[in-house]
Amino acid sequence: MAGYRYHIFVCENQREAGHPRGCCAARGAEMVREALKSEIKKNGAASGVRVNKAGCLDQCEHGVTLVVYPDAVWYGFVQPADVAEIVQSHIIGGRPVERLRLKPECIASQTCSHRGNNNAS
Ligand code: FES
Ligand SMILES: [Zn+2]
Repeated sequence: MAGYRYHIFVCENQREAGHPRGCCAARGAEMVREALKSEIKKNGAASGVRVNKAGCLDQCEHGVTLVVYPDAVWYGFVQPADVAEIVQSHIIGGRPVERLRLKPECIASQTCSHRGNNNAS
């Protein structure tokens, strides 16, 4: 295949317990990725869609974090229960799920309300 229609990266970074930034692995990232893969397959949309495990996407305080390319749409605080809506609306319907999108000020800033003043990595 020459390319993917959608390429989805799910952060599964794991940090030690108690790390101030937390991590997506501890918030259920693996379950989110597995749910995505199975929902995409169930809907016959697997062709042209790739779901990959990613390392830290530097959106830790917004985890579980994932990004959908080529749209470059970022989702945050994703739970397994949100996956069916992402697949139906965005991957199949081409309409991003607005309620789950990370706000520009969250993506571009190190000091949004979720991050507080902590810049530790
Ligand atoms: S741990 Fe998931 S974005 Fe950093
Ligand atoms: Zn934020």
